[in-house]
Amino acid sequence: MQGAYILATGSAVPDSTISNHQISQFVETSDQWIVTRTGIKERRLLTGYNQSVIDLAVIASKRALQKIDMNPHDIDLIILATSSPNDLFGSASQVQAKIQAVNAVAFDLTAACSGFVLSLVTATQFIQNGTYSTVLIIGADVLSKWTNWNDRGTCILFGDGAGAVILQACPYLENAILGFNLNTNGQYSNQLSISYKEDKLVNLNLPIMQGSFDYITMNGKEVYKFAVSQVPLSILKCLNNLNISIDNIDWLLLHQANERILTAIADKLSIDLRKVISNVSKYGNTSAASIPLALDEALYQNKIKKNDLIIISGFGAGLTWGTVIVKWIY
Ligand code: UT7
Repeated sequence: MQGAYILATGSAVPDSTISNHQISQFVETSDQWIVTRTGIKERRLLTGYNQSVIDLAVIASKRALQKIDMNPHDIDLIILATSSPNDLFGSASQVQAKIQAVNAVAFDLTAACSGFVLSLVTATQFIQNGTYSTVLIIGADVLSKWTNWNDRGTCILFGDGAGAVILQACPYLENAILGFNLNTNGQYSNQLSISYKEDKLVNLNLPIMQGSFDYITMNGKEVYKFAVSQVPLSILKCLNNLNISIDNIDWLLLHQANERILTAIADKLSIDLRKVISNVSKYGNTSAASIPLALDEALYQNKIKKNDLIIISGFGAGLTWGTVIVKWIY
């Protein structure tokens, strides 16, 4: 067995911002309500004709590659975690072509806000079993394209962005992906979804139904309760399996959904709020992008140091949630 570690990160957000005040001009809400309930002040939105998740994913990937001066030909596998592809057959292959990672196999992984965590675990399996040496993982979403801008319960939350990490093989003794815990409860899939709605009958002797995808719908209260109750359990299971005490944790890096959720989870685990990585106020909930985006920013701010232990947890639609414990080794 070989180990795996993250050796570079990159991120990208669109230039256009939308503030709480701007949102309050088209739905009944206020800056005060949004800040108090979510901690979000503004988010970035992808604007302009023909811009897609691929554009953000490509910039984030190139930034990660540039940081370590890596030739894209060295990438063996690309996993694009996204729930907002611009091609239902997948968008990862277009990222592969645009960054000229000609030797990489590329596929999408759809797991909403847990997509990055699931991709990190998937990539780690390929590295640890010796199949691949270098994997580019991208979390990227443009949920603005699926947001109902008349629904104040959801349109205040989401923003667009992308984050990329390069995961590489290392000697097993230096393995930095220490352990993980993943969960799904499909019985609650209707609590948060972008569902397919059939509304057209195509009559070719057989009644074939066709339709299109709807806007995001969410039962905010239930998703909130789920996150605050289940994520700490996932973290504790993971730490117990590894025999690591919560006191030894340096950073709590959660999916950036809502500042209150971050604080509530930290409180439940008795983790000092100074250890909580948060940028939700600037970007809102960027779904699969939120964890790698926050990781890239925390590294840029020199917060994370060699040998730090980081809890990374994602949660969201599915409902799916999970944790990875990472030791920062570079
Ligand atoms: O990425 C995946 C995960 N997604 C999440 O983690 C989202 C989790 N949920 C949440 O973050 C919170 O549930 C929200 C921020 C979405 C909502 O906060 P809340 O404290 O749960 O509010 P609520 O839905 O219970 O609504 C409270 C009140 C309601 O009014 P009444 O019925 O008490 O009169 C809502 O109609 O606030 C009202 N409300 C708003 N008021 C002003 C709901 N949205 C808004 C709004 N502005 N944007």
